[in-house]
Amino acid sequence: MKFLAVENYEKMSRDAANVISAQVIMKPNSVLGLATGSSPLGTYKQLIKWYEKGDVDFSKVTSVNLDEYVGLDGSNEQSYRYFMDNNFFNHINIKKENTFVPNGCADDLAAEGENYDKRIKELGGIDLQLLGIGLDGHIGFNEPDRYFVKSTHVVDLHESTIKANSRFFANEDEVPKQAITMGMVSIMQAKKILLIANGEAKMEILEKAFYGPITPEIPASILQLHPDITVIYSKK
Ligand code: GLP
Repeated sequence: MKFLAVENYEKMSRDAANVISAQVIMKPNSVLGLATGSSPLGTYKQLIKWYEKGDVDFSKVTSVNLDEYVGLDGSNEQSYRYFMDNNFFNHINIKKENTFVPNGCADDLAAEGENYDKRIKELGGIDLQLLGIGLDGHIGFNEPDRYFVKSTHVVDLHESTIKANSRFFANEDEVPKQAITMGMVSIMQAKKILLIANGEAKMEILEKAFYGPITPEIPASILQLHPDITVIYSKK
């Protein structure tokens, strides 16, 4: 594992964007695993700038996002599909049909999960997976549990996650109680993983996740077993 401590959010975002651009330059038809949240926003902004300058071309890239709220469709401003379209995809030349986000409104969510994993497999797996980390150690929406869940599945969000994510909603009651998230197999089979985190509040969980025991109580701790993971952390 490479653990890079950098001076601020801007530098974290720039470094992460550099890693992603390098990936796309070296393999133009890369499959990128993408994440939502406030952590990757700066990374997407930087990538958009470099795209506008002509430095990076996303026309052959495919993306698979980690997760989506159950019950929110892409027209809902709080959905992760909306987040990705508005903060990234609409501003670069990726083909929309090559961007995948789990469908949180599927009639059969179990089948949606199975198909999502099948799709990732058919794409040849993820070349580079970008991750954030929740305060309770969740990655995607894999919440602390008694076991690691392998496949894409529906999860009941924990109270603390609902609270933490309520900052994006009008109030806590509006936060969906369930989500559909990629499981640990697709994440762990990504050829490379890049986890970004910032702020003092994340320090404790990062320490537990990367320097403590590997346990489903801290889902991100499984990443210690990944052969090619880089963590970029900024305290500010
Ligand atoms: C959400 C997402 C995660 C993300 C986490 C942290 O719960 N499902 O993928 O890593 O929030 O978000 P932030 O980067 O805003 O701290």
